[in-house]
Amino acid sequence: MRYDRSFFDKGLERHGTACVKWDSRDMMPEGAVPLWVADMDFACADEIVEALQKRAAHPCYGYTMVTEEDTDALRGFLRRRHGLEVRREEIGMLPCVVTGLKAVVNAYTRPGDPVAILTPVYGPFTFSIESNGRKAVRVELIRDESLRYHIDFESLEKAFQSGVRLFLLCSPHNPVSRVWGKEELDHLLSLCQKYHVLVASDEIHAEFAFAPNTFVSVLSMTGPEDLALSFMSASKTFNIAGLEQAAMISRNPDVLRTLNRYLESAGVVSGNIFALEGTRAAYTYGDAWLDGLMDYLRQNAALLEDAVREHLPKALLTPVEGTYLAWVDLRAYSESCDLLERKFREHGVVLTGGSFFGPEGEGFMRVNFGCPAAQMLEGLRRMGEAVKDIEMTK
Ligand SMILES: Cc1ncc(COP(=O)(O)O)c(C=O)c1O
Repeated sequence: MRYDRSFFDKGLERHGTACVKWDSRDMMPEGAVPLWVADMDFACADEIVEALQKRAAHPCYGYTMVTEEDTDALRGFLRRRHGLEVRREEIGMLPCVVTGLKAVVNAYTRPGDPVAILTPVYGPFTFSIESNGRKAVRVELIRDESLRYHIDFESLEKAFQSGVRLFLLCSPHNPVSRVWGKEELDHLLSLCQKYHVLVASDEIHAEFAFAPNTFVSVLSMTGPEDLALSFMSASKTFNIAGLEQAAMISRNPDVLRTLNRYLESAGVVSGNIFALEGTRAAYTYGDAWLDGLMDYLRQNAALLEDAVREHLPKALLTPVEGTYLAWVDLRAYSESCDLLERKFREHGVVLTGGSFFGPEGEGFMRVNFGCPAAQMLEGLRRMGEAVKDIEMTK
C-alpha cells in the first residue's frame, strides 16, 4: 500500500512554511519537539496535492462558487464512512468550524444569555461564548476510576432548566478523547428536546474513532423537526486545516436558514478556490490515505501508552478512544500548568497546557500524537526529563 507505515514514519520538514506548530517563535524554542496545536506532521494525500496543483496551473483565480460537486463529495464520504445519508439542501458551507460556533452563538442567543458546554473542552468553545458577551455554563465531565470521562446528565438538565437554549457539544470530545456512544447521545438529545435546546455538535474529529469505538453523528438521530446541527470539516481528517473549509449540516431547514442569514449579515462566505478544490479531492479520493493514517495513529496510541508508563510513571493517561490528542493528568508532578509548560519547554518539548481547556484542566497536558512515532517518543522522553527536574527541585 502506498500509505503504509513508512509513509507516515517519514514525516516532513515544515519549518519556514509559516506553520503555527513549528514556526511560532514565541511558542517554539530552537530544536523543540512540538506536540501541541492540533494538526499532524504528515504529508497529506497525493490526490489532494495533485488536485491543487492542477487547479493552480489554470492561470485565472476569479470568483468561485460552491457547486453541487462540493456538497456531493461530502455526502459520498459520509455515506461511505458512516452510512450517513444527508441531502444537498441539508448542507451549508462556511470557512471554519470555529466560525460556525461563533455564528450559532450569535444567531441563537442574545448578549448575557447562558450557553452550556461540557468541560474541560477545546478553548474556543468558551471563547466563542464569552467573546460575544454570552455566559458559558460549564457542566463538568465526570472521570471514573478507569479515567474515562462521562456526561453529568443531572447537572446538564439543571443547566437546561435554568434557561439554557443553546448547547455546544464536542463529539468526539477534545481534549478528553471520548467518542460519545449512541446511548449517551440518545439521552443528550432527549434532554435537548425536552427543554427545546439547540445542540450544535462540533464533529470535526469524527473520523478519529478507534475500534471498538464508533463515531455517531447527532444527524443520525435527528429529523426535520429537531434542533440539531453538526459542524464537519476535512481539515483535521486530511490535515488540510490551512485551506479553511467546513460544512454545517442540519435536518431542520429553519436551523440552516437562521445560520445562513447570520453568516450573510456578518459577511462570511465560502468560495476560496483552493479550499473547495482540496476539500473535494480529500472527500472523493482520500480514503486510502485515511485508512493508512488510522492504522498508524492506532499504533502511536499504543506506543504512547508504553512511553507514558516508562517516562511519566506517576502520570494518569485517559484511555484514547478518539482524536489524535491524549489527555494526561500530571498533577502528581505539579498542579500548575504554568510550571509544567515552562519545564517542558526548557527540556525541549512543547505541549498544550490543560488550562487552555478551562480551569478543570489545571495540572493536565494534551499530547498531540499525530506525528511520526519517533518524534512523539522523543517528546515523551523529554517530558520524562522535565518531570525528573520538577521532582528534584520540589
Ligand atoms: C474540537 C475542535 N473544533 C474546531 C477546531 C478548529 O477548527 P477550524 O480550524 O475549522 O475552526 C479544532 C482544532 O483543533 C478542534 O479541536
